[in-house]
Amino acid sequence: MLHIDIISVLPDLIKSPLEHSILKRGKDKGLININVVDLRQYGLGKSRSVDDYQFGGGAGMVMRIEPIFNCINDLKKQRTYDEVIFLTPDGEVFEQKTANKLSLCTNIILLCGHYKGIDERIREHLITKEISIGDYVLTGGELPAIIVADAICRLVPGVISDEESALSDSFQDDLLAPPLYTRPAEFEGWKVPDILLSGDFKKINEWREEKAVEKTQLKRPNL
Ligand code: ADE
Repeated sequence: MLHIDIISVLPDLIKSPLEHSILKRGKDKGLININVVDLRQYGLGKSRSVDDYQFGGGAGMVMRIEPIFNCINDLKKQRTYDEVIFLTPDGEVFEQKTANKLSLCTNIILLCGHYKGIDERIREHLITKEISIGDYVLTGGELPAIIVADAICRLVPGVISDEESALSDSFQDDLLAPPLYTRPAEFEGWKVPDILLSGDFKKINEWREEKAVEKTQLKRPNL
């Protein structure tokens, strides 16, 4: 069982994508559990403030230490975490290899950043890993957290019914996946490659391997 806590000031933004299709099934089967924690509950004062002006001046608010510290501490009372991950555009770029490693964890916290950023001391003392989903800046860490959670959860054994299908994904062996076809075998004169209809599985596997290499060299030679 993989348990993920996502800490966010916009919990409603996160909930819906986790309640459909494969992730929902994984949850219903008891293989994964994703819990969204509203950081505002830990906000300070009457207005439940979670951010403040930055020391030294400059545009943009900064997320304060205390709400995040108290929130993470509360979670740590309930379980031991393998990783406390901060989603940030200056983190390490997320790849399949990281998803593979994280899918072996038992408990993970994903902290979504907002505003200009978070107080650096949170990163120094509470965060064990920083992840970016790519070299572009989004309005917050919520969409990245969903992407990371999705990529990890589908790798937990049993979440995808046919385990083979996760193993043959693009990137799993530094190759893009080969092309796929389904019925009809011919549409408007567009034909499925004969080899796939031959029933010769040795040849089919060789063809798939060859196409995967070809496609990778063409589209992503850096892999
Ligand atoms: N927050 C804002 N942009 C982000 C990105 N590219 N990756 C992770 N978290 C982010």
